[in-house]
Amino acid sequence: PAAALLDARSRPLHDLRISVTDRCNFRCVYCMPKEIFGRDFAFRERSELLSFEEIERLARVAVSLGVHKLRLTGGEPLLRRGIVDLVGMLSKLATPEGKPVDLAMTTNGSALPVMAQQLKAAGLRRVTISLDSLDDARFKAINDVNFPVSRVLQAIDAAEQAGLGPVKVNTVLKRGVNDDEILSLAEHFRSSGQILRFIEFMDVGTTNGWKLDAVVPSSEVVSRINERWALEPVVKTEPGETANRWRYADGAGEIGVISSVTNAFCGNCSRARVSAEGQLYTCLFAGSGYDLRALLRGGADDAELARALTGRWRQRDDNYSELRAALTPGNRKRIEMSYIGG
Ligand code: GTP
Ligand code: 5AD
Ligand code: SF4
Ligand code: SF4
Repeated sequence: PAAALLDARSRPLHDLRISVTDRCNFRCVYCMPKEIFGRDFAFRERSELLSFEEIERLARVAVSLGVHKLRLTGGEPLLRRGIVDLVGMLSKLATPEGKPVDLAMTTNGSALPVMAQQLKAAGLRRVTISLDSLDDARFKAINDVNFPVSRVLQAIDAAEQAGLGPVKVNTVLKRGVNDDEILSLAEHFRSSGQILRFIEFMDVGTTNGWKLDAVVPSSEVVSRINERWALEPVVKTEPGETANRWRYADGAGEIGVISSVTNAFCGNCSRARVSAEGQLYTCLFAGSGYDLRALLRGGADDAELARALTGRWRQRDDNYSELRAALTPGNRKRIEMSYIGG
């Protein structure tokens, strides 16, 4: 096999996160606040988005270079028309060793009750569903479109029943907003087979009003749960994993904490991201991307695409989360979360 492709910090390229749309049917206050993502907001036109053929080609070349995990994101990926067909195309990709790629999706779940089975049949392996509160009124205030929490709980069940589990549930914690729900969320998902993951609120983009004092440190989350139900650390199985994993000592399953703010994991970050319009970003906090669409539409062949990806990855030295504390806030251009899919 070819020598592993490493970046400037010796990190391999293992994961590709593909945003398929910049649109979402939610307006989570920390991600797509209505004041900015309102009626007049100019989302990308359909012709600007990569076509499924373009996405498949890009993914195939990336897989030939060592990528073995593909994650579809948005915005809300299930809003992209024909998404099941795209899943079908990507699920046929295999690594140079002949293993099928690990194909996952991060979604708000709203369309899963109707789509979970088709997605599974098309080859999706697993889903991660966002859920920030179990309290209906609060959940509606967070998503800001009056979406009831019961329908996200139904989505989790639908995904499990379709065989898209174990479902990971992502909870972004914000101090004073939902940090009083740590134990109730933990209790709800204990023994469910689902993996609840608490995420530190990050300063992605420039429109979410991020402040350090809104971050609930993962150490606090773990100690609060551990006081109630004893936890034991679980060794990471994937080297570039985002979450630190903990299991309940009584066998009720496991949780994760994603600590990009208090315990950066750039050291082994193996993720590349492609926006819906084909910009390649080598970091969630990148200020600018590399225009893969221009290459794709300019007639580049697979070898040229591979050379471009290889070249960008070799140059990559991003480690934003390790530097965050030293940077002056607000003086950096950054892409928005909904544009790059987290
Ligand atoms: P698994 O492969 O299933 O563990 O998924 P994941 O954790 O890579 O993906 P998911 O979309 O569930 O992301 C969980 C949270 O971690 C989100 O808030 C992401 O924005 C964040 N996240 C994912 N990758 C990175 C990363 O490379 N850097 C930072 N800072 N945050 C990330
Ligand atoms: N910080 C941390 N996580 C975020 N997400 C969206 N915005 C932020 C932020 N500022 C989460 C979503 C979803 C995942 C892809 O990223 O809730 O679960
Ligand atoms: Fe949509 Fe997810 Fe952003 Fe909420 S966090 S607005 S569901 S993309
Ligand atoms: Fe990777 Fe950038 Fe996140 Fe660090 S901040 S883990 S380099 S995406």
